[in-house]
Amino acid sequence: MKPDQTAEVYVSCPLGLEEALARECEAIGVARLRLDKAGVFCEADFGLAMRLCLWSRVASRVLWPLSSGWVANRDQLYSAVKAIPWEEWFEVHQTFAVSSNCREVQFTNANFATLVAKDAIADRFRERCDGLRPSVNRDNPEVLVDLHLNGKRLDLSLDLGGESLHRRGWRVDGGLSPLKENLAAGILVLAGWVPGAPGPLLDPMCGSGTFLVEAGLILCDTAPGLLRPRFCFMNLKPFVAPAWEALLEEARTRDQRQTRTGVVLFGRDLDLAMVGRSISNLEAAGLAHLAQVEACELTDCEPPPGPPGTLVTNPPYGQRMLPDTDLLPLYKSFGDLLKKRFEGWDAWVITTQGPLSKSVGLKTSARIPLFNGAMECRLLKFQMYQGSKKASVPQNG
Ligand SMILES: C[S@@+](CC[C@H](N)C(=O)[O-])C[C@H]1O[C@@H](n2cnc3c(N)ncnc32)[C@H](O)[C@@H]1O
Repeated sequence: MKPDQTAEVYVSCPLGLEEALARECEAIGVARLRLDKAGVFCEADFGLAMRLCLWSRVASRVLWPLSSGWVANRDQLYSAVKAIPWEEWFEVHQTFAVSSNCREVQFTNANFATLVAKDAIADRFRERCDGLRPSVNRDNPEVLVDLHLNGKRLDLSLDLGGESLHRRGWRVDGGLSPLKENLAAGILVLAGWVPGAPGPLLDPMCGSGTFLVEAGLILCDTAPGLLRPRFCFMNLKPFVAPAWEALLEEARTRDQRQTRTGVVLFGRDLDLAMVGRSISNLEAAGLAHLAQVEACELTDCEPPPGPPGTLVTNPPYGQRMLPDTDLLPLYKSFGDLLKKRFEGWDAWVITTQGPLSKSVGLKTSARIPLFNGAMECRLLKFQMYQGSKKASVPQNG
């Protein structure tokens, strides 16, 4: 695949957000796409691929395909990697790294595949650049090569973002267990939170404020990549600085953070340190003037003034913070709180399956399977109908 052509770019995302990612890619300008597990294949040229990196809130990575084929052993892997015209993509003085993901007995050790690929790339440059080769920088490479081996099927790509796209650049401090930014954004998309959304958004257990910041960026039509200082595509030969500058200029024009007024993002958390983290993150994202974050125990949480809005939260759940059984009362009081004070609101909760979600004691109007990393979760929707107690029916099973 040459840099000036259209390619079938692979855009990855957290498992369960494929549909949301597909709709988002279409809105960004992709005309042809197909869904895959934990991602979407999009037909794109280099400019559209850069636009995806800048505008996708849900994507983790944007991979530009270089070659696909079949390899059965070390020598075939080496030859397949060496056959790619790397010198058309980057210069010998630039640094690179290889990130490998292998599901093949022979290469289950991804490090081995990485070493073979690094040698092949270095040897190709040596043969063409008077014995010179690019250096490897594992932590902060200028060029990131993605190697996927599934069975004997090899896919080699360039990771256009480099560092995962959930790293927007606004996070000052995450605390113990922040949600990834793109998972939070995907949940907000599923919750129907759109630019100019009416009503307030409340996270009563906001932690470091991931939902608040991502909701603010959506509300202000701020490109998630606008705050990020670097993408690996900037170091590739097909990169055209004026084309990128034009994309940035368009994003700056759309960005309403400075013109928007009125507090619409509300965060509460029991832990004062978390409140501080949320505020720091909102400030770093340029959204503090749209938010109000206070220390508050869940049972004391009141809806903000104004019309009913959207409640979205990621309460503690087992494994990462506390065993499930210790958390049952928290989930029960959450359900009681919704019933008592949040009539007319839509509440969205991401948690694990099983006893925790049941102890909320309310009927769900949606249960969407989602993965938080490797952990299988459910995004639950509780619709707190106005003037009706329908949502208060305890769910069976
Ligand atoms: C899983 S963390 C939320 C992480 C957050 N979504 C983020 O991205 O940073 C759960 C949060 O719930 C808060 N929390 C736990 N019990 C609470 C309670 N009873 N009242 C208010 N907040 C509580 C914790 O302090 C913690 O910050």
